[in-house]
Amino acid sequence: MTNIILLGPPGAGKGTQARRLVEERGMVQLSTGDMLREAKDSGTEMGNKVAEVMAKGQLVTDEIVIGLIEEKLAADGGAGFIFDGFPRTLGQADALGRLLARMGQKLDAVIEMQVDDEALVSRITGRYTCGDCGEVYHDETKPTKESGKCDVCGSSNLKRRADDNADSLRTRLMEYYKKTSPLIGYYYHAGELFQIDGLAEMNAVGDAISRVLDQQN
Ligand code: AP5
Repeated sequence: MTNIILLGPPGAGKGTQARRLVEERGMVQLSTGDMLREAKDSGTEMGNKVAEVMAKGQLVTDEIVIGLIEEKLAADGGAGFIFDGFPRTLGQADALGRLLARMGQKLDAVIEMQVDDEALVSRITGRYTCGDCGEVYHDETKPTKESGKCDVCGSSNLKRRADDNADSLRTRLMEYYKKTSPLIGYYYHAGELFQIDGLAEMNAVGDAISRVLDQQN
């Protein structure tokens, strides 16, 4: 089993590459963003609070996201877990270490996807996803082959996220630099950090991640 974290700012390509690893290697993607969007759609009191925080681009409390991850870790991890968008604070990183240790597992690599802010703005504002299968697209770099129809499942339920706008993105980036970027030093000191060029073309980014994973086996 190989457990990895994909670390990077909003729009770095974490979700895109996680989906690829699920397909190519049989790993299990754990995206706290996706889990929170599901909770948000549940219409519960907790879901409504989460929706408000996410729309502003702020971070949801550690307590909620750690609880969500803990639940998912109980399931079969296939060839390994891909933590996508988690951890995002030092508290979450400590909690993840404890949860993995309790399961007799460890973290094999933390892959930091480096992308500059300018590229992130165009990636985020051009993104849309399939509401049925979750495939991620982009107006310019990865449009659907047939307009309005998902290439993977054929659905016409293509959606844009409520937080994919310039205002929320500014807050999301600030949250990333203030609360999440300290994790780069945290995992560097633990000897688990690998840095890759997230600005490269999608397949080249995938190849760089594969090289890191192959070194772990
Ligand atoms: P989350 O859903 O995790 O969003 P995020 O971290 O902001 O990351 P994104 O999903 O926006 O981007 P990505 O890196 O996955 O990029 P993608 O592959 O889609 O979190 C949303 C919110 O939930 C947070 O703001 C917070 O409120 C809350 N939350 C989540 N986790 C939390 C936690 N742990 N603690 C507290 N709160 C939490 O790619 C983006 C676009 O670029 C796509 O259109 C794609 O096609 C394109 N693209 C990808 N790669 C390339 C490439 N190499 N070249 C060109 N285009 C590319």
